[in-house]
Amino acid sequence: MNKNFYITTPIYYPSANFHIGHCYSTIIADSIARYKRLDGFDTFFLTGSDEHGQKIEKKASETGVTPKEYVDKIVANAKDLWKQLDISYDRFIRTTDEDHVKCVQKVFKKLYDQGDIYKGEYKGLYCTPCESFWTETQLVEGKCPDCGREVQLVKEEAYFLKLSNYQDRLEKYIEEHPDFIQPESRKNEMINNFIKPGLEDLCVSRTSFKWGIPVTFDTNHVVYVWIDALSNYLTALGYLSDDETLMKKYWPADVHIVGKEIVRFHTIIWPIMLMALDLPLPKKVFGHGWLIIDGGKISKSLGNYRDPREYIEKYGKDAVRYYVLREIPFGSDGNFSEEALIGRINSDLANVWGNLVNRTVGMANKYFDGTISNSKVNEDIDKPLVDDISSLKSRTDKLLDELQISKILENIFDLLRACNKYIDDTTPWVLAKDETKKGRLETVLYNLLEAIRVSNILLMPFMPTSTKKVIETINSENNSFKEAKFIDNLKYTVSKTPSPLFERIQSE
Ligand code: MSP
Repeated sequence: MNKNFYITTPIYYPSANFHIGHCYSTIIADSIARYKRLDGFDTFFLTGSDEHGQKIEKKASETGVTPKEYVDKIVANAKDLWKQLDISYDRFIRTTDEDHVKCVQKVFKKLYDQGDIYKGEYKGLYCTPCESFWTETQLVEGKCPDCGREVQLVKEEAYFLKLSNYQDRLEKYIEEHPDFIQPESRKNEMINNFIKPGLEDLCVSRTSFKWGIPVTFDTNHVVYVWIDALSNYLTALGYLSDDETLMKKYWPADVHIVGKEIVRFHTIIWPIMLMALDLPLPKKVFGHGWLIIDGGKISKSLGNYRDPREYIEKYGKDAVRYYVLREIPFGSDGNFSEEALIGRINSDLANVWGNLVNRTVGMANKYFDGTISNSKVNEDIDKPLVDDISSLKSRTDKLLDELQISKILENIFDLLRACNKYIDDTTPWVLAKDETKKGRLETVLYNLLEAIRVSNILLMPFMPTSTKKVIETINSENNSFKEAKFIDNLKYTVSKTPSPLFERIQSE
C-alpha cells in the first residue's frame, strides 16, 4: 500500500479580517494530516497565501505601501493565527515565493508551447473610472454596478486556455471516478450547472494591472490569479524544478480541502490544467460547507466579525478546533454563535470528556491509591463497552476516509458518554463498600481507563493540546495508533493531582 499522503488547504487571500469560518479549511486539513501521520503515513501538508491580483494592488496603494509590503504584514498575521491553532503544516507557500513564480511561468510557457494556451482578444464591458470589467448580467440598468456610470465595450489582447478542448474528457473522468468530487451533491452541481452547458475558453492573462506573475514571453501580461494560485499545489513539490523528488513521492494529491464556493475552480480549471500538463489528477477534491451566522456570511461589514484569537484566548485552541469540526457536518453548513461554542464546551468537553476523566482518576486515587491493573472480574455489562473500545479505530478510519470528521467526533463522544453511563450502572461507590467486590471495582476502573486511553489516542489529531493533558493525567505510555484497541494487561498509575481538562463556562 502507498503510505505517502499529500493534503492541501486553499491558499488564503491576504486579508486582515480572517474570521473563524476561514479557519475551518485549515483546521480540518490539519486534523486529517495529523491523523495520517499518526497512522504511519509519510504526510505532506501544504497551506499558504494567494497574494497576487488587482485587489491587493489597489489596497496596497490606498495604504501607501508596495503590494509586497502589504502582503508581508498580513502573512505574518496569518502565520501567527495558524500557530495559535496548532496547525502543523509542512510548508507555508506564498505565491510571491521565487520557486512559485518560476513554476507558474514554466507551466504557462509549456501550455503555450503545446497550443493549450493561445493569444486572442478579450471582449468585455469596461468601466474606466472603476477599472473594472463587467458582464452584461452584472450591469445595473445597463450601467456600472459600482459607480452607475456608462460602460464601454472594449477589447483587450489576452491569452486563453482551451478549456473547450477538454470538456468531454473531464466529464468522462468525473463520471468514472465517483470519489473525485466530494460530496456527491457538489459533483452533480459541477456537471449539470457548469460542464454540461459547455465550457468556454478561459482568459488566463491580464494587462490592466501589474501585480501578478509576468508572462515570460510577453511581459505586458500577468498570469490570471487562479492559474497562479492553483499551481501552488505543484510548486510545493518542486514540479518543473531541478529537484522533483517530492513530486515523485507525493503527486497526485490525496485530497484538496476547499470551501464549497471554490470547488468549481478545483474541479474544472485545475483538472484541465493537469490533463494538459499530462499529470494524474488529484484523488479527491472535498468541498466543505461554511460556518455561517444567522443563515448568512461572517463579515466585517455585517458587524458580526470577531478575530478568532479572541475565542482562542477565551476558550482555548482545542475548544475552537473541536467546535468548528463538530459543528460543520459533512457537506452542509454549520451555524456559529459564541453561545453555541460555550454550549459545546459545557456539554461535550467539560460534562462528558472532562467529567469522565475526572471521575475515573478520582476513584482510582480514592480506592486504589492511583494504581490500577486489570483484575479481570468481568460481568456481561462490560462486553459492549470493551467491543466499542476495540472497534473505535476501524470505525474512525472508515469515517476519516469519507472525510466525515464531525461524525468521528460524535462517535468518540458517544463512547465517552457510554462510559459515564457505565459508571452510573456499575456504581463503583457501592462496590467500594464491599471488600469482596474489590476485584470487580478494579476491573470497572480498568475498563474506564482503557476507554479514556483509546478515545484519547483517536482524539489526538483533532485536539492536540488537551489529549496531551489526558496522557499526563492517566500516565499512559501506550499512545500510538497501533495501540488504539482494548489491551487487557496494562498497569496504570494515575496522577494524584490532575488539573481539570475543561472548565464549565458560565454563559453571560
Ligand atoms: N485564494 C483562494 C483559494 C485559492 S486555492 C488555489 C480563496 N481564498 S479565501 O481566503 O477566500 O478562502 C480560503 C478558504 O476559506 C476557502 O476554502 C473558503 O471556502 C474558506 N472560507 C471562507 N469563509 C468561510 C466560512 N464562513 N466557513 C468555512 N469556510 C470558509 O478562496
